[in-house]
Amino acid sequence: MAAAGLRRGGQVFCRQLGFSAGWHSLPRRSLSTVFKASDMQIELNKRPNQKPDPGKLVFGKTFTDHMLAIEWSNEKGWEKPCIKPFQNLSLHPATSALHYSLEIFEGMKAFRGIDKKVRIFRPMLNMERMHRSAVRMTLPSFDKAELLECIRKLIEVDQEWVPYSDTASLYIRPTFIGMEPSLGVMKSNYALLYVILGPVGPYFSTGSFSPVSLLADPRFVRAWMGGMGDYKAGGNYGPTIHVQNEAAKQGCQQVLWLYGDDHQITEVGTMNIFLYWINEHGEEELVTPPLNGVILPGVVRRSLLDMSLQWGEFKVSEKTFTMNDLIKGLEENRVKEVFGSGTACVVCPVNRILYKDKNYHIPTMENGPYLAKRFLKELTDIQYGRTPSEWMLSI
Ligand SMILES: Cc1ncc(COP(=O)(O)O)c(C=O)c1O
Repeated sequence: MAAAGLRRGGQVFCRQLGFSAGWHSLPRRSLSTVFKASDMQIELNKRPNQKPDPGKLVFGKTFTDHMLAIEWSNEKGWEKPCIKPFQNLSLHPATSALHYSLEIFEGMKAFRGIDKKVRIFRPMLNMERMHRSAVRMTLPSFDKAELLECIRKLIEVDQEWVPYSDTASLYIRPTFIGMEPSLGVMKSNYALLYVILGPVGPYFSTGSFSPVSLLADPRFVRAWMGGMGDYKAGGNYGPTIHVQNEAAKQGCQQVLWLYGDDHQITEVGTMNIFLYWINEHGEEELVTPPLNGVILPGVVRRSLLDMSLQWGEFKVSEKTFTMNDLIKGLEENRVKEVFGSGTACVVCPVNRILYKDKNYHIPTMENGPYLAKRFLKELTDIQYGRTPSEWMLSI
């Protein structure tokens, strides 16, 4: 079904993306266990789109002119990576990604600095997480540094799409899908790794924090020990939409995910969670749950831990805490701030939790929020090039 590589002026251009059973008719060559960014083939979009007004961006609705695509088959290994005009995929109706959720993805951002240069935030952490997710999903292994270099080249091609703004950014969505064109729960013999890009606006449109309210309902579980919650697989997200709707019905903006009989606090919506408080021993402490198998290892989570450890101003703990611990802290006026962390918002303050039909006010905003604001400032200063940092990779 997929058109074979188009030959123009002796150069092989990227084939149409999609179901590639027709590869069997291509001449045999040796199995390629890695793809190399230096083999990149580029087909430029002859009809580039108008760049949107950075002030009017809606998350996930606008895409750039190009995409990166790299095909893999068990028989031949990796094909050459290619950058091509943004286009639809052509999928066999039995495609394994559609039937058995053989899909993993990443979410990361590139920023236009005050010097107008474009930089990506800690991208190797995303490459490592993506590789881990791929292995867990039995999708083929790849060289993380080569993928990052391919993404860098893609952003270079579409660099004018990185908003000239110190609040907007370019969202990067690497995606990896099983393309087996047959039914049967098994490892896929075909796969497609592709990357799409889109400019996105600020998470807080008013420029100042707006806190969120959370539904903590122990009937719903996002992840469990031995499951997939600590990998970034699409299958983790679809089932949460129902719970998100339930939260909205009960007047809450997001879901606080609990785990276990003791109602451990794990994550909030699609963010990691932090509690800044005076602990049971009277110490000032920043706490986030440990990476025990039910927590997605967030890049921003890691960055907030790294920054606060470097400051050395208060205790920093990766430890389990429960709803009872939080409620006791609230009753004893020991809770300063609760906030989520993630690529979309950096940090997002929490002001209310609905748990067992009772609303608990969280005094995050009354406390500044001092720490959440400080994290936001320090991190965005790095992202927009106001503070030079080795965390940023230049395009
Ligand atoms: C479930 C979940 N937790 C946490 C995060 C935050 O991760 P990061 O900081 O890498 O964006 C995300 C977003 O990717 C997520 O989907």
